Amino acid sequence: MQDIIRQLDEKRAAARLGGGQQRIDAQHAKGKLTARERIEVLLDPSSFEEWDMFVEHRCTDFGMAEQKIPGDGVVTGYGTINGRLTFVFSQDFTVFGGALSEAHAEKICKIMDHAMKVGAPVVGINDSGGARIQEGVASLGGYAEVFQRNVEASGVIPQISLIMGPCAGGAVYSPAMTDFIFMVKDTSYMFVTGPEVVKTVTHEEVSAEELGGAVTHTTKSGVADLAFENDVEALMMVRRLVSLLPSHNRQQPPVVPTEDPAGRIDDSLDTLAPDNPNQSYDMKELIFKVVDESDFFELQPGHARNIIIGFARMEGSTVGIVANQPLVLAGCLDIKSAIKAARFVRFCDAFNIPIVTFVDVPGFLPGTAQEYGGIIKHGAKLLYAYAECTVPKVTVITRKAYGGAYDVMSSKHLRGDVNFAWPSAEIAVMGPKGAVEIIFRKELDDAAKIALRTEEYRQKFANPFIAGQRGYIDDVIMPHETRRRICRSLAMLRDKKLENPWRKHGNIPL
Ligand code: HXC
Repeated sequence: MQDIIRQLDEKRAAARLGGGQQRIDAQHAKGKLTARERIEVLLDPSSFEEWDMFVEHRCTDFGMAEQKIPGDGVVTGYGTINGRLTFVFSQDFTVFGGALSEAHAEKICKIMDHAMKVGAPVVGINDSGGARIQEGVASLGGYAEVFQRNVEASGVIPQISLIMGPCAGGAVYSPAMTDFIFMVKDTSYMFVTGPEVVKTVTHEEVSAEELGGAVTHTTKSGVADLAFENDVEALMMVRRLVSLLPSHNRQQPPVVPTEDPAGRIDDSLDTLAPDNPNQSYDMKELIFKVVDESDFFELQPGHARNIIIGFARMEGSTVGIVANQPLVLAGCLDIKSAIKAARFVRFCDAFNIPIVTFVDVPGFLPGTAQEYGGIIKHGAKLLYAYAECTVPKVTVITRKAYGGAYDVMSSKHLRGDVNFAWPSAEIAVMGPKGAVEIIFRKELDDAAKIALRTEEYRQKFANPFIAGQRGYIDDVIMPHETRRRICRSLAMLRDKKLENPWRKHGNIPL
């Protein structure tokens, strides 16, 4: 017995040391934490239950039989985040560069299967040289096993990826299929083909950071949601995110106590939207002033900034916020913003999170780049997502809601449950100037007449009352009471029941 205990201790110590002190020091020298240190920061103290510490690879080629490290380059198990069960895998770069072997993949699959069985989120910490080269196709099979589980878990349990080192080639597709991706600046990258291949094929010279670093993916590509300065910051933000989400799709989002009164009035909102419709304002100010304790967890803040998405709480319950941002491209919808918001709306719908939409949208962005890029198909994604969605939907039109974009942005016609407008709202097919230039084309030479017609159109249509007369708007509310009205609406909708007709799945325009 003593021998076995000693052996156990030795094996545990070997597993904890991963690829050895030298490689741990090298990891630290790069500004990175080790796989285990990351788990310690992520989970509540002493809550981690490790599994499969003694798993070893089965490869015998290329001298691998003599190179076995218990755990085989990934630390897996479960623990809690603010008391809530969370599964985790953390790739250990000090062991074969965190490369994924068949056994390594089996460990990841095991915790994913358990997370599905018990209904709890999975956080994946990626720091890996990719497929274990010595294992060949066994490693590719391992990746595909993980992919399959990512897809089956999609919409069932939240999946969050942290990229904290290399993540290249086909390996990127596991995080890509998870719900959220957080990256760390300067130490992480994601790309399908690296700088060397890019140089050979397209003759472009680009660094790994420029090609697939945290800044690139949170500004240009939109692949990642947030970029952080270091591992600790990123891990702490995952804790915040998990705290906002239900553990699985049959659960309601968590409710936390709040001191912020539901009836709180904010008079400064009455002057937020400028009288001049061509002047912009910051929609985030409205979000901060309306949500509980001004606490807004924004996602993708640096990408497609003409639309804002993120989580907040109203009366302690999580809501998803979608809002046009008049400060960027006048708040127009375009390809990137439609895709960004559509995916977010679908996440909220899958996980029972009500959606609050703030609308100030002059329409879709014109131009050949948009049309050739497929704005028709991509814009339809957002329309489809809102129309399909069955969670409570509360919409507030602050100013412009023109044309097709009016329909798209959670309008009454797409089963918006409660649709409010501020008195400054203009709900019309287009802005007064554009409208007059079309319907009074013959009078265009007469500037005075056109000005008169424009004013006439503005008076008649550029207001919320025509929509109000038809019941497309449930009420015209004062900006200062926006929080109170949203809170009441959400409370009224708490037990909403709505189901879509049975189908295998819809055919969203991809
Ligand atoms: C086995 C690997 C490995 C891999 C790294 N190592 N990648 N071992 N399989 N894929 C080992 C190295 O041999 C080294 O071992 C240790 O990990 C650390 O690697 P270094 O190169 O010293 O580290 P660094 O300089 O930081 O560079 C990291 C790296 C580089 C950029 C990831 O190692 C690299 O380019 N690796 C190969 C990446 C790759 O081509 N992977 C296959 C991609 S295809 P020692 O013993 O010296 O410490 C793929 C497809 C997936 O992944 C498909 C899914 C469908």
